[in-house]
Amino acid sequence: MNLLQNDWLTWLLLPLSGNAHHELSFWASWHGRIMVLCWGVLLPLGVLIARFFKVMPSQNWPTVLDNKAWWTAHLHGQGAAIVLAAVGVALIWNTAGGATPLARWHGYTGWAVTALGIAQALAGFARGSKGGPQDARVRGDHYDMTPRRNTFEKTHKSLGYAALLLALVTVFMGLVVADAPRWMLLAISLWWLSLIAAFAWLQKQGRCIDTYQAIWGPDTSHPGNRIAPIGWGIRRYTAASFAKQFKKTKETT
Ligand code: HEM
Ligand code: HEM
Repeated sequence: MNLLQNDWLTWLLLPLSGNAHHELSFWASWHGRIMVLCWGVLLPLGVLIARFFKVMPSQNWPTVLDNKAWWTAHLHGQGAAIVLAAVGVALIWNTAGGATPLARWHGYTGWAVTALGIAQALAGFARGSKGGPQDARVRGDHYDMTPRRNTFEKTHKSLGYAALLLALVTVFMGLVVADAPRWMLLAISLWWLSLIAAFAWLQKQGRCIDTYQAIWGPDTSHPGNRIAPIGWGIRRYTAASFAKQFKKTKETT
């Protein structure tokens, strides 16, 4: 065994199959890079922002309401990522061979992920109006939590997480089909573990604050505060419990 074979760096640089030679078409490599950027980085970060940053850590809630930073990031970030992801799929469309069952499965789940992504963006635009207590003439879908808003929240949240899970599987299949270098699989796995850890930590901090409260505050005169929030693990606060929660968190960290 020579020195080079023992070298962990050499091991990491080899393709997953262990073959010394690795050829990938220009289209497939750009398809892979773009898909990892969109489905591995931009879209999951956009989801974390939408879930945990509706009230910013520095924000004096509920004196300061409706901070639109999360909204701007989610709308533009997810919108741009879906357009870019469509370009990424277009790059490989019809150049793919489907030579192995795994390549064919990557194609099937890849098309499903693409369809889910487009459906998510369309659902976003079909979410209805916002409204608010000041606007008694235009009762907004969100302020009144109409069936339309209710359906949007249920479908957008569940399909969004389903899309991310399927994308994760698709990316790993893509890496195997392309016989990518080992370091890529390792780096992408570590990145996803960090995302899961960040999710768990923010969830435990109580940062998943109800959208409705983030926008209109905790007062029960607002109709949406009289029904349960839609989804799992969503926190509601009063001004006092919010101050207590985040003061306590700061002291203990
Ligand atoms: C969630 C992310 C991804 C999606 C949505 C996706 C989507 C797709 C789709 C729809 C096809 C089939 C195109 C057709 O029917 O003509 C395909 C093929 C392919 N993808 Fe991906 N892809 C993703 C990630 C990746 C990654 C990370 C790689 C790694 C380089 C990759 C490598 C490939 C290759 C090599 C093919 C051609 C397979 C064959 O020979 O049939 N993909 N992808
Ligand atoms: C560009 C168009 C989009 C718009 C207008 C939009 C809009 C929204 C809105 C309003 C919410 C907050 C729902 C609430 O808490 O009441 C949300 C949350 C969410 N969005 Fe989007 N979205 C878009 C694209 C996407 C895409 C492409 C994905 C794909 C993964 C996605 C995944 C999610 C998820 C998973 C949540 C729930 C996060 C949580 O609170 O747990 N969105 N989106």
